[in-house]
This record gives sequence, C-alpha cells and structure tokens, in this order.
Amino acid sequence: SRHYSVALVPGDGIGTEVIPEAVRALEATAKTHGFSLDFTDFDWSCERYHKTGRFMPEDGMDEVKRHDAILLGAVGWPGVPDHVSLWGLLIPLRRELKQYVNLRPVRLLKGITSPLADRGPEDIDFMVVRENNEGEYSEIGGRIYAGTEDETVVQESVFTRRGVDRILRYAFELAQSRPARHLTSATKSNGIVHTMPFWDERFKAVAADYPDVKTDQFHIDILTAHFVQHPDWFDVVVGSNLFGDILSDLGPAVAGSIGIAPSANINPERDFPSMFEPVHGSAPDIAGQSIANPVAAVWSAAMMMEFLGETQAADAMVAAIETVLVDEATRTRDLGGRASTQECGRAIADALS
Ligand code: NAD
Ligand code: IPM
Ligand code: MN
Repeated sequence: SRHYSVALVPGDGIGTEVIPEAVRALEATAKTHGFSLDFTDFDWSCERYHKTGRFMPEDGMDEVKRHDAILLGAVGWPGVPDHVSLWGLLIPLRRELKQYVNLRPVRLLKGITSPLADRGPEDIDFMVVRENNEGEYSEIGGRIYAGTEDETVVQESVFTRRGVDRILRYAFELAQSRPARHLTSATKSNGIVHTMPFWDERFKAVAADYPDVKTDQFHIDILTAHFVQHPDWFDVVVGSNLFGDILSDLGPAVAGSIGIAPSANINPERDFPSMFEPVHGSAPDIAGQSIANPVAAVWSAAMMMEFLGETQAADAMVAAIETVLVDEATRTRDLGGRASTQECGRAIADALS
C-alpha cells in the first residue's frame, strides 16, 4: 500500500500552532484515501539556535533527505536576527535540496470576500512561479567600513542561464497544462536593472519552444498595480526570487488573507525531497494565542499530497478547506470568523473524515 514519510519542521511562533492542524488533516485524509503516513519531528528553530548555537545538527540535511517530503511551519523569531535564521535554516534547505521552484497559488476560495470590490472566485485564480535558488538572494557581497561614514553594503544579484532557463521552462510547462495557457513574466528591464534584459532574452528564447502558450510581460512596478486592478488578467506569473516573493504576498492579500496562502518549494527532478510551507511567517504578534489561521498550512499539506501523486486526497483537502471557510463559526478571525486555530483545524479534519 502507499506509504509516505514526512519530515515536520514546525519552526517558530505560529509555525508550531498550524503544523499540528496540517497533520490532523493529513491523518484524516490518509484514512479515507487508503494511504499511510509517518511523521518525524524536527525541532529546528530559533529556540534551538538559542540553546545550541545551531539550527540543525551536523547531519540534519542527511536526515531530512531520507524523507519523501518536508512540511515546514515558519522560521524567524525576535532575538535572532532574521538574516541569521534565514541563512541558517530556510535558505540552506531550499538550496541544498535544489528546490529551485517556489510554486504559490493565488485563488479566491469560496467563502472568502476579496478586499477588491466586486471580485469573485472566477476573477482570481492564478499561480505565482518564483525562482527559489538564486537571483537577488545571493551570498555575494558584504559590508565594509562598518560604523563609519563610509559604511557601504553590496549584494550582487546572480542570474545564471541554467537557473533562469529551468524556472522559465517550469513556468511554461505549467502554463501549457492549464486551460488558459497564458504566462506572464515579471521584469524590470527598462534600463535600470542589468540582470533583467537577460531574463527577458531567456524568456523569449524559451518561449520559442512553447508556441501554444500566450505570453506577455510587465515591469514589476506596474505589475503590482495590475494584480490589484486586473487580477483576472493572470494565469501563470513567473518572477525572480525577490519579485516572486513580493508578488506572492500581494496575490494572497487580494485573495483574502495571508493566513490561507500555501507554497511548494519544488525539486522537479525529485533527487531530493520537496518542501511545503505556508507563505506567511512566524507572526510573533499573534503567536501563542491560538488564533492563527491554519488554512495556509493545511493547503500546503494538500500541495504536498498532490506532489506525491495523491491528487484525489489533495482535492479533498482543498474542498474541506472551502467548506469550513463559508462558516463564521469555523473560520479564524483574520477572515472575520470566531474559530480558534484548533477549532478551524478540527472542522477541516471532520470534513475529511
Ligand atoms: P508574518 O507573515 O509572520 O506576519 C505578517 C502579518 O500577518 C502579521 O500581522 C501576522 O499576524 C499576520 N499573519 C501571518 N500569518 C497568519 C495566519 N496564519 N493567521 C492569521 N494572521 C497571520 O510576516 P513578518 O511579520 O514579516 O515576519 C515575522 C517573522 O517570520 C520574521 O522573523 C520573518 O523573517 C519570518 N518569516 C518567515 C517565513 C518563512 O519561514 N517562510 C516567511 C515570512 C516571514
Ligand atoms: C517567504 C519569506 C522568505 C523569503 C524570507 C523569510 C526569507 O518571505 O518564504 O516568502 O523571502 O523567501
Ligand atoms: Mn515572502
């Protein structure tokens, strides 16, 4: 029978509150869909860093590589500078496991009111495909003359042909598989950013292999405006690491709440496990109060099951999310409801049983 082993990294803050709800939903789904799961807990977090000076043990990367997938909550907590926790845990996982695609769906689910007037589920349904291994998130650079008037910081963006082509190719393949067959590229090639004319060149070159996909491109500044004014224009949107990061918070905001946005850090070659995590962070402002929305984590778990080949289970999980979102009593307060994290999570699991 089908069996999957999942590495759990709840991380910090609300990560530790929402991951158990994702597990609850997964266990309910496994029972009704005829597969089994085992979970290994990893306490990799800022708390662990405080105690031990490390986010993960020496052999941590080898440990997670033995699993079929990773489900992560969020990383980052006040007291540990973000650049330390992110370069210490999140970014190494994404890079060493060659998860070069960050797939972030933006969908206005039934039961949610968009902050945009007169927009319904048929208007907001697209995918952000974010480059996840290079670009603006580079290690090349540093600080000199610290603390003096000459203090200078430099960070080089790195765009390789291999890195750009593979993310574009993934985005074209995805667009080709969807009914609208439409791919939008996020760029900034109007003379300022040197890397972007190269991105555009590669976009054009790769597009030649996908004549049935309709393409367009917008500079990132006006693209953010179009996300708000014309969300119905988009089907698949591909962007660099930083542009994709920004677009994938803006998208969920127009689709109701950052508390529901899922993501998949995908290694398409499957030589290492892929990692699934909410788009949101550890939310120190609401952590420990049992009010965090668990939907982003549950939806991320659904993306995990889809990636593992359990498409029906994944669809059932998203349908269960939609049933709880239509009811004020089972949705959390970021969506105007009154459920706690656990009440919302239990309602999703019940809908799956
Ligand atoms: P955040 O996503 O943690 O919070 C932004 C706002 O959204 C907060 O007001 C928060 O309460 C709200 N929010 C987020 N998730 C929610 C949920 N599930 N339900 C209800 N409300 C929710 O972003 P931030 O404040 O910029 O970052 C906080 C920490 O998280 C930082 O250390 C940051 O580096 C880290 N972070 C980590 C990840 C990740 O691990 N992938 C992602 C983003 C931020
Ligand atoms: C995300 C987060 C991370 C990113 C941060 C925490 C480094 O914002 O997953 O979107 O920028 O990739
Ligand atoms: Mn982000």
